[in-house]
Amino acid sequence: KVDLPLKGKKVVVTAGPTRERIDPVRYISNFSSGKMGYAMAEAAAAMGATTVLISGPVDLPVPAGVQRIPVESAADMLDAVLTHYEDASIVIKSAAVADYKPKDQHPQKMKKNDGETQIELVRTTDILKTLGERKKNQLLVGFAAETNDALAYGQSKLNKKNLDYIIVNDVTDPAGGFGNDTNVVTLLTHTGQSIAFEAMQKRELAKILLQTIIKEEGLHTND
Ligand code: PMT
Repeated sequence: KVDLPLKGKKVVVTAGPTRERIDPVRYISNFSSGKMGYAMAEAAAAMGATTVLISGPVDLPVPAGVQRIPVESAADMLDAVLTHYEDASIVIKSAAVADYKPKDQHPQKMKKNDGETQIELVRTTDILKTLGERKKNQLLVGFAAETNDALAYGQSKLNKKNLDYIIVNDVTDPAGGFGNDTNVVTLLTHTGQSIAFEAMQKRELAKILLQTIIKEEGLHTND
């Protein structure tokens, strides 16, 4: 008997970095490889979900049974996520979205000179916070990438963004964070639990995280 606890549910996952263009040849971004988000999408699809993966630019194959929507910037990601939000059961925001973008995008390549230069940055929209404000029945699962006081910052993001769960990773841990095949995380729940997981492969961790959430929410069925 195949166990498909997410059958009939739509799961939206975001993954990878965003790129915020400075000019036609340069951008601001971060070190996200997409591995964690792709693992979450793979696990959701394997559990029977209709899975939409909204992905920044990364070099990974599309997991089996997953629909990938490629995006570049935080603004593109916001549009794609909102398009798929209404009928989603679970939204998992593994993407490392840029918090700032250049105020102006130069239409031509910026020319260098001998002196210093400055790029003015403005905030991008916080996608997850926007989803939290518009939440109806969706379960919202965020990630928090922290370098210090990880659990306290994670808890504060769970509250501020109106999330149901947040997966906190201390990205300074050599066994976790950006680029690695493994991760070390703690899952904080809306019921006040803090569940720590040992270091493991992101693909294995993704399954366990989803199973834990499914159990917590009583979503599990055996058909
Ligand atoms: O991609 P890998 O190389 O496998 O690395 C995995 C990872 C470290 C990127 C991943 O595990 C992770 O932590 N992802 C979230 C990274 C992040 O942007 O964290 P944050 O603490 O800055 O943001 C908190 C949450 O708000 C995140 O769910 C983020 O997607 C969301 N956010 C942030 C800013 C923004 N403008 N919009 C958002 O939705």
